[in-house]
Amino acid sequence: MDGNGRWARERGLPRIEGHRRGSEAVRACTAGCIEAGVKNLTLYAFSKENWQRPADEVQALMGLLDRFLVERTAEILEQNIRLRAIGHLQDLPEKGRRRLEDTIAKSAGNTALNLTLALSYSSRAEITDAARAIARAARDGTLDPETITEDTVSSHLYTAGEPDPDLLIRTSGEMRISNFLLWQLSYTEIVVTPKLWPEFTKDDLFAAVREYAGRHRRYGGI
Ligand code: FPP
Repeated sequence: MDGNGRWARERGLPRIEGHRRGSEAVRACTAGCIEAGVKNLTLYAFSKENWQRPADEVQALMGLLDRFLVERTAEILEQNIRLRAIGHLQDLPEKGRRRLEDTIAKSAGNTALNLTLALSYSSRAEITDAARAIARAARDGTLDPETITEDTVSSHLYTAGEPDPDLLIRTSGEMRISNFLLWQLSYTEIVVTPKLWPEFTKDDLFAAVREYAGRHRRYGGI
């Protein structure tokens, strides 16, 4: 959800106002996914690297996450959305983490949209965690290293059991992956839009999905 800071700066507003507007933009995006029949949406809300930002910005972002959960849980349940989260959730403030776990539990049976929040997330950390778990199983004799396949690795990632993304939308014109789902994005189509996240609308989502639909996916074939 890139471009919150720039959106605020362009308007002479504090960065956190950009994040606040950014969290509002989530609503149109989830509604658009449901309308378009998209079954899985992952939002990169806070990276492991984002902890290095100034303390007041980090605190404000954690506050926004908290507010998002307080204000939107009823809506999430009403819209049949299943909430999930990936990342080092143990890094989150206790109160926010409990709220998150609560909404995850309450929405576990929902089926309209799987909404995953990537929080304190780093793809390299995820792959490292998977390598550690696989190595531990090999050491303990429950896994034969010769039988390790790509599926073994996938099944040790935080996204185990979930499909790899078909489409990655990167807002604010950024041309980087930024440590996001590196394994899972191997064959994902990428759409980069100049739109800053706070002004990303349902129509922008539909335009990205249309662009995706016009792509010819070859998976290394011809
Ligand atoms: C990137 O923009 C955005 C973030 C680091 C935070 C995104 C978080 C939210 C929108 C709110 C909390 C989450 C939820 C799910 C409600 P940036 O700050 O890097 O913007 P810039 O590149 O323009 O400076």
